[in-house]
Amino acid sequence: MNGSNRPRALWASRFGFVLAAAGSAIGLGNIWKFPYITGQHGGGAFVLVYLACIALVGVPILMAELLIGRQGRRDAVGSFVVLERPRSPWMLVGWVGVTASFILLSFYAVVAGWSFDYVVMAARGVLQDRSPVEIEALFGALVSSPVRVIFWQGLFIVTTVAIVLGGVRGGIERCSRILMPALFVLLLLLFGRGLLSAGGVPALRFMFQADFSALSPQALLDALGHAFFTLSLGAGTMITYASYLDPEADLGGLALRIALLDTFMALLAALTIFSVAFAAGIEPGSGPGLVFQTLPILLLELPFGSVLTLLFFLLLAFAALSSSISMLEVTVAYLVDEKTWPRWRYRAGGGCGFSGRFTQCPVFQPLAGV
Ligand code: ALA
Repeated sequence: MNGSNRPRALWASRFGFVLAAAGSAIGLGNIWKFPYITGQHGGGAFVLVYLACIALVGVPILMAELLIGRQGRRDAVGSFVVLERPRSPWMLVGWVGVTASFILLSFYAVVAGWSFDYVVMAARGVLQDRSPVEIEALFGALVSSPVRVIFWQGLFIVTTVAIVLGGVRGGIERCSRILMPALFVLLLLLFGRGLLSAGGVPALRFMFQADFSALSPQALLDALGHAFFTLSLGAGTMITYASYLDPEADLGGLALRIALLDTFMALLAALTIFSVAFAAGIEPGSGPGLVFQTLPILLLELPFGSVLTLLFFLLLAFAALSSSISMLEVTVAYLVDEKTWPRWRYRAGGGCGFSGRFTQCPVFQPLAGV
């Protein structure tokens, strides 16, 4: 028996799907990676190329992946079996997706772990009353400490596993409904504050004044690669998520909403970060540490700055989580659908194992919704 013979979980609503799929798309790619690669590639012209890649390549591929998942109603490999035939070469595409998402998760968890560390630093007040140079040094100390990095990476992976064990509605959809709107409101608030700072106008100019002489072939490649990364394409994620959609869903509208939300969040995050960078004299092309070195400066200047700093890094960690759960779900869906592994098992004699319903496990009951 494979997964096609078993009842399949569905999203509670299409809105829930949009939030979960946008949650998969919106993550470190928007808040951490897009600003720093835009900084490295000189701003405006890179942003234009990136937007063209999203519209001309990203959205059509997103629609195609959603269609494959919705029609196949199986995991990333099984959907190709349903739509084509068993052992069709198209299954390789699904396999590449399952492998890619698993490998991607291992690197993603490292950067997401940094945000966990920043949550703790913010809670302990370590970031307070620091100069920009000291905040930069704190980031350097974190990334050069293997113990800290591995510890937070491990904790992030354990958290991801716990949510995915909750299943589609109970774990993934429920978390996305809370986390995505909260992140959106906080980013809007920070964007408004950043724009009013001395760096606001230079940031707008940097992002929207195109200087095509700054554009290298590497920039074109990075823009295209980032369009795939940010929309979670080519990794089986959107195929898997769409397999839990009802068969009547309007895929064009859903794909557009996901892409617009994702792009809006990336532009918002980049403008905010560049406003702070320009105001504090930080080089926009200073690399992967940009968000960790700039936002604490802005946040700590605001009323209730320490609370907002804590909140921001919590939400960054949550945004990373809503993406990492989609990466892990690709492999889990494959094992559940193709290998008939149960997602979760509860033993009557006590304790939780892998042979029953997640909702019966007392440890995870607060997360369980179905
Ligand atoms: N799409 C996810 C992100 O942008 C991987 O972080």
